[in-house]
Amino acid sequence: MKTNKSGAKFSAIVKIGEDLRKESRKTGKEFLYLNRGINRVVNIDLSEIIPMIDFNSDAVQYYPHSKGMLSLRKAINTEFFTERASEENIYLTAGGMNALFLVFQTLEIKTVYTHSFYWGAYSNVLKIAGKSQNFYRSFDEILSEPEKFNNSALIICDPNNPTGIKTDDKKLYRVLDVLQKQNTIVIWDGPYRRLFYDRTDDLYRNLLAYKNVIITESFSKSIGLSGQRIGFMHSKNTEFNEEFAVRLLYSGNGINAFAQVLVEKILSSEEGKKAAKNFKEKTANAITENIKLLKEKALLPNNIYQNDLPVGIFVIVNKSYEELKAKNIGSVPLNYFTRRTDIEVENYSRICVSVPSEKFKNYFKHF
Ligand SMILES: Cc1ncc(COP(=O)(O)O)c(C=O)c1O
Repeated sequence: MKTNKSGAKFSAIVKIGEDLRKESRKTGKEFLYLNRGINRVVNIDLSEIIPMIDFNSDAVQYYPHSKGMLSLRKAINTEFFTERASEENIYLTAGGMNALFLVFQTLEIKTVYTHSFYWGAYSNVLKIAGKSQNFYRSFDEILSEPEKFNNSALIICDPNNPTGIKTDDKKLYRVLDVLQKQNTIVIWDGPYRRLFYDRTDDLYRNLLAYKNVIITESFSKSIGLSGQRIGFMHSKNTEFNEEFAVRLLYSGNGINAFAQVLVEKILSSEEGKKAAKNFKEKTANAITENIKLLKEKALLPNNIYQNDLPVGIFVIVNKSYEELKAKNIGSVPLNYFTRRTDIEVENYSRICVSVPSEKFKNYFKHF
């Protein structure tokens, strides 16, 4: 069969997980799977929310509007933008990955810049969308040489995957200011941020001031619902939005209605807000404790963190995949997330620190 090959690779992280599980079955070893990008401290407790959902309703059983249910777009406007956005500019997507893919397809640009430490999936999604990937080394590089990014798009992921570093918001606004003058399109892809903030966070509202910013968001991380495959895209550009809407419609014929009703209840009802708050608090507390332990054990490489602590949910440790595996810890080698040659990539790995602290401590006691 003649196949249109994109050149993108099947997820290497999924393969690492499969290999570790196979080894666990064969040897009986119990691994701590820190290779995975999910919050595993607790699950969000949906027990008070599920009874609020009428499974016999038209809303759950029929095709939803291809942009997403108005009630959920309104709830997102309240949660993220203190009602300052227009619901017309919010589009529900099947998670952040789907939003990014449609954004890459819709933009008429050749190159998308990512941070020199980047989520590996960006490379593959860009490849399928026929865009080339280039890199900025740091936000300082953008501030000192913004003209490099003229006529391109650039992704900002903060807190960063894989480093877990949170850049000061004031600096990020300065970056946005110079890129707006440069006419660079900024794709704001920060699905980890809202795990650490609630609706009092004014960042998304402030992003509305930038006409060149496209937001892609996800409910996979901030409320732990990666299984529901739901996120959204926000843009203020009418021409872009019209084309995005067409591609969204024909890529999936709408987003799962149950997932939309569920997220709407979490964002809007008192029970939902309480469940999200508990989930975020427990998750963020464990992450902070786990990072503290890594710092005490000198496992955070100085050339990446200097004296700053990452916030998570990922961090880079100065141990290789093999060294961690020997202690029954799953990780992902750092070379999946960077092409930099000035650091000892082969001796470093990315781990997810969003797991219960007692368990984490137990596995790391041998370091
Ligand atoms: C930086 C970043 N953006 C977007 C996503 C997309 O998540 P999802 O497709 O589950 O919404 C991820 C998932 O790991 C991510 O790390």
